[in-house]
Amino acid sequence: MSDNPGKLGVLISGSGTNLQAILDNCASGKLNAEVSVVISDKENAYGLERARNSGVETRHIPWRKKDKEGWESDAVRELKKYNVDLVCLAGFMRIVGTTLLEAFPGRILNIHPALLPSFPGLHGQKQAFDWGVKITGCTVHFVTPDLDMGPVIVQKAVRVLEDDTEDTLAARILEQEHIAYSEAINLVLSNRVQIAGRRVKILSAGDLSDHDPTE
Ligand code: GRF
Repeated sequence: MSDNPGKLGVLISGSGTNLQAILDNCASGKLNAEVSVVISDKENAYGLERARNSGVETRHIPWRKKDKEGWESDAVRELKKYNVDLVCLAGFMRIVGTTLLEAFPGRILNIHPALLPSFPGLHGQKQAFDWGVKITGCTVHFVTPDLDMGPVIVQKAVRVLEDDTEDTLAARILEQEHIAYSEAINLVLSNRVQIAGRRVKILSAGDLSDHDPTE
């Protein structure tokens, strides 16, 4: 892994517990990264307060219903200003468009509360619970134009218990999200992922040392 911590831009819309886990893992050194800026489309997103409490720069860019491109251009300007290496969507409740995707090709990650490609879209936990699956979980993936369908980097499985409610299940999935996101960020920042079509190959440390970095 490179010694320099990678710079993250995090996009949120709400409570920001995934952001908090990323901030905590950066602070403890589990994640070789730093959060440079947190951007929210909602002014009252609690994640903005979490960021400020950690001394991280925040931006509220009010959502413009009829001007997604304009919103994304503003976000890209901020993200570029901080020279971010990766953009992490963490409870960002908007579908990413071409302006953001083209500004950070292969550099935008998202976390989803189900084992994709099952239960994409909103309320992945409820969809899985209502379907009656016995195992669900969470997925960190690269963002592509198709919602929740980008190549998978990390998944964590969570068993559905007989006495689970939608809420108890969602809480256990969230615990795994907090672990999975930092794992995926570390892998991407340390260049240990190789994308071949839909498959993301995770290179071991051995694979890395076999690699001639000048190639
Ligand atoms: C998480 O369940 C995440 O998977 C989904 O939105 C939720 C955000 O939670 N994309 P938080 O804001 O990180 O607490």
